[in-house]
Amino acid sequence: MKDIDTSKLSWDEWDELHDPRPETTGFDKVVEEAVSRRGFLGGLVAFGSGAAVMGTGLLGSTSAQAQTAAMAASRIGFTPIPIQTDFTVHVPRGYSWQPVAKWGQPLFSDAPELDHATGGDLVSSDRVFGENTDGMELFNIRGHQVIAVNHEYVNPKINLVSSGGETTSAVDVLKLQNLQGVSVMEVAQGADGWNIVVDSPFNRRITQNTEMRIAGPATGHDLLKTAADPTGTTALGTMNNCGAGKTPWGTYLTCEENFNGYFGSSDAEFTRPDDYLRYGIGLESRYGYEKFDTRFDVSQNPNEPHRFGWVVEIDPANPDSVPVKRTGLGRFKHENAAVTIAPDGRVVVYLGDDERGEYLYKYVSNDVYTPTGPTDTLLDDGQLYVAKFHADGTGDWIALTPEATGMDAGEIHIYTRMAASAVGGTTMDRPEWVAVNPIAAEGYCALTNNRNRGVKPNAGGDDTATNGPNPRAENNYGQIVRWFPANDDHGTDAFRWDLYVMAGNPTVHSDAYAGSGNINEGNLFNSPDGMMFDSAGLLWIQTDGDDDNEGDFAGMGNNQMLAGDPVTGQIERFMTGPNGSEVTGLTWSSDKRTMFVGIQHPSAPFPDGDGKLARSTVIAITRDDGGLVG
Ligand code: FEO
Ligand code: CA
Ligand code: CA
Repeated sequence: MKDIDTSKLSWDEWDELHDPRPETTGFDKVVEEAVSRRGFLGGLVAFGSGAAVMGTGLLGSTSAQAQTAAMAASRIGFTPIPIQTDFTVHVPRGYSWQPVAKWGQPLFSDAPELDHATGGDLVSSDRVFGENTDGMELFNIRGHQVIAVNHEYVNPKINLVSSGGETTSAVDVLKLQNLQGVSVMEVAQGADGWNIVVDSPFNRRITQNTEMRIAGPATGHDLLKTAADPTGTTALGTMNNCGAGKTPWGTYLTCEENFNGYFGSSDAEFTRPDDYLRYGIGLESRYGYEKFDTRFDVSQNPNEPHRFGWVVEIDPANPDSVPVKRTGLGRFKHENAAVTIAPDGRVVVYLGDDERGEYLYKYVSNDVYTPTGPTDTLLDDGQLYVAKFHADGTGDWIALTPEATGMDAGEIHIYTRMAASAVGGTTMDRPEWVAVNPIAAEGYCALTNNRNRGVKPNAGGDDTATNGPNPRAENNYGQIVRWFPANDDHGTDAFRWDLYVMAGNPTVHSDAYAGSGNINEGNLFNSPDGMMFDSAGLLWIQTDGDDDNEGDFAGMGNNQMLAGDPVTGQIERFMTGPNGSEVTGLTWSSDKRTMFVGIQHPSAPFPDGDGKLARSTVIAITRDDGGLVG
């Protein structure tokens, strides 16, 4: 068997290799329609899952005229840039970028600068900016600019240089645990641009060992009890923190994604329960934690995995605050948490579960948010729903109740995937970030890709044939679905939906894989992932896809960030990242004159240059004329 360097695999690829889900055959259902009611899909009307029969109108005269009109009325104020395949960042003419926070950079003056020969030491590993920057939000706290930012996973080959990336001791494990989690850091703009305010009282590291309170419907459930926490109310740490969210009351939501990969078993004969199979918890972890930290050995602590896969709320204004795992938001591979307020004041949180054939969710609080009222139970006391998309462009949020699922409230929130299957939610092409338009009642979800739709079901065995918002069988490119809640009320159960964009490559394909009508040679991309709206209602789209720039991906270059206009469908490229990196995480300074963007796991020594280690980095992008960038 060919040796595979598993350190180079994405979490999705690692999961597939390590714990392949069951295969099914013979399921090639006739395809549902994927019609855009706003027309961005150009000539596309419907096509089959096997033999796509897309019309020739993709770049035909109608869409070309529409595009010309859209450009004339464009709200996109930058000059789009070409693709790149190099090892640095590019932004449009009239904009500049600079690094702000790099993996290993001190948040406190007692930590040294990163030693590129070793990848840093254990003592400083929870005093520095962590690895693999991901989702982030900026908070204006009494005039201070404070960024909370996720550290999704680690790159042991550069974090543990002396052991060549192998985890050989409890010290190695603890160092890796310290480099993940969340950083809270104050940043400030001076004559030399943006910098971390070292030793700011707001600075804080939250790691995989930080004590956290468990709150909401699953609190104290038998499935959450362990020998170390017999009450099931206190957990240690947060992990695989992917996307993020921000509440109107000024807290940060960090989302635990691929938690399954951190657990293993010292007993090779350990029989995995069904929920382990559905959540992909195997007998060997990705970083060997279970060999040196028994908390991660499922043969000794079978309930420990149930204490991850949550959304965690953090108060960035109080560095002594205890983070809270909000079980009301369900347990799955959380991508991000997009918060909005319904017209009646209830809190609505949209949530994606990033795995093939899993679901899109929504939470609605029972109580209402008021700027002066209590907020501590708004994410505990509410109703969780799963999305059901119908082929006719309508959809429903189906409540995950004991009556509908046959599960008790604790089980619904701990085994949320099974609850969603029980009510027949719509299986999706890997839901990544959700973004809510601040100036129009609509939500967007990036469905990043799915190479197995129609081939493999999810681990629950659910139907993963193509369907309305997921119309392509071999989906290497991804799409963005959006929904319009009834009565412009995100709290209601009914919605209409369409596809904002189907990524594709019209230079290679002339069928459904060419993409929708708002894809053209100038804005090619694949695998939309991070998404945020700016205050003007432009949708910023970040990618985490194939950047080899060949074959199906020719003309797409490195991962990138684009801006999309929801009204016209226009999408233009704003930034390109270094080769090998994913562009993920986006927030703005309070004055909207700086955009902070995350560059995760560059393959070359970005940004320090030859002879240095590659460093995941938060960069700042500004306009040279000091104008608004969001
Ligand atoms: Fe961490 Fe689904 O991206
Ligand atoms: Ca992501
Ligand atoms: Ca991704």
